[in-house]
Amino acid sequence: MPNRPQSSPFPNMLLFMFFLILQTLDSESAAAAAAALKANCQINLDSTLFTNSSWLSPSGRFAFGFYPEGSDSFKVGIQLIESPNKTTVIWTSNRDDSPVSKNATLKFGEGGLKLLLATSQGEDQNIVNLGQTSVYCASMLDSGNFVIYDNKNTVLWQTFNYPTDTLMVGQVLRSETELISSVSEMNHSSGRFRLLMQFDGNLVMYPVETDDNAVNAYWASNTESGPYDNLNLSQDGILFLTNYYNESQRQNLTQGDQSYNPNTIHLARLEPNGMLYLYAYDSLKNTSKVIDKFPDDECLVKGVCGLNSYCTFSGGKQVCMCLPDFDKISNDTQAGCHRNFISTACLGVGDNDTYYNTMDDLENVQGFTELLPATTKLTSKDDCRQSCLDDCNCDIAIYHENDGRCSKQSLPLKYASKTTDTTDPNIVFIKRTVHRNTTVQGLDVVPRTVIKKELSGAPLIVIVAVVSGLIISNLVFVFIVFKFQVVMCRMIWRSKELALTDEIAPRSFSYYELYEATEGYKEEVGKGAFGTVFKGTLTSTRKLVAVKRLEKVVEEGEREFQTEMKAIGRTHHRNLVRLLGYCNEGSNRLLVYEFMSNGSLADIIFKPDHQNRPSWKERFRIALDVARGIHYLHEDCERHIIHCDIKPQNILMDENWTAKISDFGLAKLLMPTQTRTFTGIRGTRGYLAPEWHKNTPITVKTDVYSFGIVLLEILFCRKNMELEAEADQIILSEWVCSCYLAGELEKLMLDEEVDMVEFARALKVALWCIQTDPTQRPSMKNVIIMLEGCAEISSPPRP
Ligand SMILES: *[C@@H]1O[C@H](CO)[C@@H](O)[C@H](O)[C@H]1NC(C)=O
Ligand SMILES: *[C@@H]1O[C@H](CO)[C@@H](O)[C@H](O)[C@H]1NC(C)=O
Ligand SMILES: *[C@@H]1O[C@H](CO)[C@@H](O)[C@H](O)[C@H]1NC(C)=O
Ligand SMILES: *[C@@H]1O[C@H](CO)[C@@H](O)[C@H](O)[C@H]1NC(C)=O
Ligand SMILES: *[C@@H]1O[C@H](CO)[C@@H](O)[C@H](O)[C@H]1NC(C)=O
Ligand SMILES: *[C@@H]1O[C@H](CO)[C@@H](O)[C@H](O)[C@H]1NC(C)=O
Ligand SMILES: *[C@@H]1O[C@H](CO)[C@@H](O)[C@H](O)[C@H]1NC(C)=O
Ligand SMILES: *[C@@H]1O[C@H](CO)[C@@H](O)[C@H](O)[C@H]1NC(C)=O
Ligand SMILES: *[C@@H]1O[C@H](CO)[C@@H](O)[C@H](O)[C@H]1NC(C)=O
Ligand SMILES: *[C@@H]1O[C@H](CO)[C@@H](O)[C@H](O)[C@H]1NC(C)=O
Ligand SMILES: *[C@@H]1O[C@H](CO)[C@@H](O)[C@H](O)[C@H]1NC(C)=O
Repeated sequence: MPNRPQSSPFPNMLLFMFFLILQTLDSESAAAAAAALKANCQINLDSTLFTNSSWLSPSGRFAFGFYPEGSDSFKVGIQLIESPNKTTVIWTSNRDDSPVSKNATLKFGEGGLKLLLATSQGEDQNIVNLGQTSVYCASMLDSGNFVIYDNKNTVLWQTFNYPTDTLMVGQVLRSETELISSVSEMNHSSGRFRLLMQFDGNLVMYPVETDDNAVNAYWASNTESGPYDNLNLSQDGILFLTNYYNESQRQNLTQGDQSYNPNTIHLARLEPNGMLYLYAYDSLKNTSKVIDKFPDDECLVKGVCGLNSYCTFSGGKQVCMCLPDFDKISNDTQAGCHRNFISTACLGVGDNDTYYNTMDDLENVQGFTELLPATTKLTSKDDCRQSCLDDCNCDIAIYHENDGRCSKQSLPLKYASKTTDTTDPNIVFIKRTVHRNTTVQGLDVVPRTVIKKELSGAPLIVIVAVVSGLIISNLVFVFIVFKFQVVMCRMIWRSKELALTDEIAPRSFSYYELYEATEGYKEEVGKGAFGTVFKGTLTSTRKLVAVKRLEKVVEEGEREFQTEMKAIGRTHHRNLVRLLGYCNEGSNRLLVYEFMSNGSLADIIFKPDHQNRPSWKERFRIALDVARGIHYLHEDCERHIIHCDIKPQNILMDENWTAKISDFGLAKLLMPTQTRTFTGIRGTRGYLAPEWHKNTPITVKTDVYSFGIVLLEILFCRKNMELEAEADQIILSEWVCSCYLAGELEKLMLDEEVDMVEFARALKVALWCIQTDPTQRPSMKNVIIMLEGCAEISSPPRP
């Protein structure tokens, strides 16, 4: 007993102290946990936001909520509040949905985040749908991350996992994910450029909706052999690549921010113009500066200017210029440019009387794509010029002064920019067709005033002087760029297994790939003479495509089919549907085309409801589009493609309502017996030229006849044969013809406003096209000249 008190105090005390310590620890950690939980729980369940309010981060720098986009409409996202009058959007929810009205509210509730649109239909939109998961609270963090937690403080969802165009410190761009630029500063829908963390470890910038290959890449980290799969941004403003499993493997892409302090917020953003900017924002001074950018200048961004225009700088500002003799399609620089003359790349027999081709010069413009193989070591620039003049496939030639390389290419010119560098001085030659004053086939061809004046001596001298002046100063820079491009191309190629040829020639697909792309041929979008068409999405590029399963095809050898496909694939024109690839496995013959989102011409002109049909101006433009497409087919020097089945169902409209001809080049693949009768079988006799029923050869003039019928249908928005019409009007072409010959044009007038001059012109052209004697019909080239009003049109006789 006596011993006990003596012996016990010490252990007792120890125990007591131990408990005390334990208790303090416990309460401390509990308090910490509570504090953490509290911090994490700024936003409790059933909180609501109106369009005039937002949830701020503790520092007040970041705000989650509505922000204005467009007039009186809003989107939901996160803003960095840089100063009382400047905010920057760093994240947008459902960025491609249309903005919501002022009356919308945002509710944080059981299932996640819901946008209540407050429309009469009472429809809601989920922003985050966590279903049955037990959502507890949410928080707008000072890092710019908006996070939703469960009651165990586990992150259920965070905006950092869904980057849009901005990468914040602590946010990672993971393997095979990308940043996509916004449309503009004011519009945060998906824009035109992307930064992709490739599976192979390379970080690459491309225009959107392009394949991941060197032709389209405009910047790359060149780290594809490295082990990297994450793009991080560090506190001190270094953009770096790491490996998810081994963080010691790291590659810095930038130098970082020398004047960095703890109040600096760094962010990297893919700008609407395709540049990646790294910003440092000082939250004490409320100032923001750019500390790094990729690539070096705006003109290196591929696709920043539209087709047939090139990027250059004017007064320090990036601008897009049309090639000489080209006009802007619209005042949107993106729309690109088109020729302001009628092109005749190929001078056939007899053409010499009507046209001649010449070359215009332009110094130091690099055209990046679709270059025909560069001819090696041509001795002079005159040879290069002449070689393009003589080459039907050549619209543009680039002559490199240093080594005498001559690169030739056909239009459109894509990704062109005027170099400011000095190592590879070059001259660009652009082919232009000049019309002579002579008479063709009963038409008096009068030159149009819009056809550009001849290249006079004076500008030439100026150009030559400028060029020679630039040559010397240009030497160093182009060499570096060229080197850089070679290295970059090689690397991206190796890693992506997509070669340059894939961009130009159609790709061969496996049956399984197309099976996957069409989800088992689920969505049928059309049925044609050649087979059934399905909608699909290429898994590799997420590009929408139309897959055509050919039936009734000649059992040609593999090689013949392939040769045919390659030939069709080489046919590029704005008014032709592009063949992207094909599949030739066993008895399966499939063709992959670009997807035309607006259906066929038949859909839009044969609408029963006259209110909704396209205006006269639109229809006239479409008719010209169609004529240009056919003209190109007929003039394609390599093959002179006869379409054989021109009709409104085969003319498709893309998302910009450009008319494109489909199914060309396929007539050859049909069984010989069907070649002559397939349209008959399908009951589209109306478009067949009379020679189909006789034993005369089928020529390009056969298509001209069909075009004549289509033109009439476009003019009158009705089918050539309409049984419900009044007796004398059942066959449109006959009725129009008799009215025209009787001088009763007014009988033909539609109840709409039309340009009478254009109308009469188009009518005459159509009547010339449907002449019974093929030799009487004009060539497509002359059809275009006449439609455009460049030639007087004599009165057509009765067919
Ligand atoms: C925001 O809008 C809501 C509803 O439209 C309104 O009740 C509230 O008073 C407004 N708050 C402020 C600060 O204007
Ligand atoms: C933003 O751009 C997209 C795509 O160009 C367009 O559809 C949308 O109407 C634009 N939104 C606003 C508010 O201008
Ligand atoms: C910086 O911006 C914050 C938030 O808008 C504002 O409260 C503060 O006064 C600004 N400071 C300076 C120096 O402009
Ligand atoms: C907006 O902020 C800038 C600096 O960030 C300042 O120069 C300007 O005066 C401010 N404008 C207004 C209206 O407060
Ligand atoms: C917003 O709500 C008000 C009052 O309920 C209504 O008058 C107005 O039409 C609504 N506006 C929109 C764009 O829905
Ligand atoms: C990169 O970011 C991720 C996610 O924030 C992080 O886990 C990782 O540690 C970062 N890597 C480095 C080297 O900082
Ligand atoms: C991580 O990478 C470093 C060098 O980059 C290497 O030395 C180390 O062995 C790697 N660690 C593991 C676990 O692979
Ligand atoms: C990358 O940056 C970090 C941080 O400044 C530095 O510690 C590291 O040495 C750098 N790595 C290389 C390879 O330069
Ligand atoms: C661009 O063209 C549209 C019509 O095509 C016109 O409304 C607009 O004012 C033009 N913008 C400029 C800047 O010229
Ligand atoms: C066209 O004329 C040029 C000379 O003006 C001549 O060299 C060329 O052979 C002619 N071509 C044809 C197809 O007649
Ligand atoms: C064509 O004729 C017009 C006058 O009718 C004349 O001005 C022009 O120079 C001629 N063009 C050519 C290429 O001969």
